[in-house]
Amino acid sequence: MGAGHPPVHRGGAVVRAVVLSRFGGPEELRVGEVDRPEPGPGQVLLRVRAAGVNPFDAKVRSGAMEAAFTTPLPAVLGSEVAGVVEEVGPGVTGTSVGDEVFGWADSGSYAERAVATTVARKPGGLPWERAAALPVAVETTDRVFGLLGVRPGETLLVHGAAGGVGSIAVQLGVRAGLRVIGTAGPGNQEHVAALGATPTTYGEGLVDRVRALAPDGVDAVFDVAGKGALPASIELRGGTDRIVTIADDAAAELGVVFTGGPPQRSPERLAEVADLAAKGELVITVAGTFPLVDAAEAHRALAGGHGPGKLVLVV
Ligand SMILES: NC(=O)c1ccc[n+]([C@@H]2O[C@H](COP(=O)([O-])OP(=O)(O)OC[C@H]3O[C@@H](n4cnc5c(N)ncnc54)[C@H](OP(=O)(O)O)[C@@H]3O)[C@@H](O)[C@H]2O)c1
Repeated sequence: MGAGHPPVHRGGAVVRAVVLSRFGGPEELRVGEVDRPEPGPGQVLLRVRAAGVNPFDAKVRSGAMEAAFTTPLPAVLGSEVAGVVEEVGPGVTGTSVGDEVFGWADSGSYAERAVATTVARKPGGLPWERAAALPVAVETTDRVFGLLGVRPGETLLVHGAAGGVGSIAVQLGVRAGLRVIGTAGPGNQEHVAALGATPTTYGEGLVDRVRALAPDGVDAVFDVAGKGALPASIELRGGTDRIVTIADDAAAELGVVFTGGPPQRSPERLAEVADLAAKGELVITVAGTFPLVDAAEAHRALAGGHGPGKLVLVV
């Protein structure tokens, strides 16, 4: 997942893409030409308008994921896409040329064209970059809420509430009837409060701050950030039950559930959440947009601690 078609030239049409030719820093992301992907059975070919930039992409870029799975190089990164359907492959129903859609790219989305199987119709009023910021956050939140078994009226603690995933998780939690306490840096407290959570800062003293906000305890913990908050979470919960992390490597050692998938990709659910956003009932925060040629800059921003929400490439 996340790294797409190897840009081997077959002599046909080519498109511009951000090509990773060797693992390393952001500077390894260079614009080049790759074969235009062909839509296979069940796939649509998209003229890409926006591509979500995920920390996962940076982990693949650096080579850190090679121990878990290999990415053949050269590769095109990017799993989130929004764009216009340019061709439909065999067996595609319900999606036509010219439709504006968003979802998960099967080939890398850091490119002018990408193929995709799981896409939803983009509401007309939803900007491209916001649509491209949604798929990973929605799928991950739903998967984790399912694992946590959260119920209306419960208190959920979210670590990393201001980021690409956290900003959506907070709002879906509030909509599900949860009281959400969200941790974020000092500069993002207002952002987290505006999303409907009770904000607090992470770091030393976290247990005491959360206890002061939730004297009856927290019912569940969603660790989005993966920055060492599991011991504090265990202390707050009195054990490892109902704590899930998506990013902390210490999970296994501490006996905490780590989920990395399998992804449960639902176009219907994506459409539902996008409609909420189009109606102004859910906020999709874009931390910054970058043109395709500045993909390396986007990855530097990702590493440097960007503003609240998601970074997106616009094509
Ligand atoms: N396993 C999966 O299925 C899955 C799926 C999606 C994402 N992920 C992973 O989840 C992580 C977050 O993804 P994302 O897209 O939300 O990233 P992101 O947009 O970069 O957000 C990360 C957030 O972490 C916060 N943070 C930094 N240091 C922290 C600390 N010590 N304690 C608490 N929060 C801290 C930052 O908050 P401030 O800016 O307020 O400091 C930032 O908002 C990444 O590692 C990503 O790879 C995993």
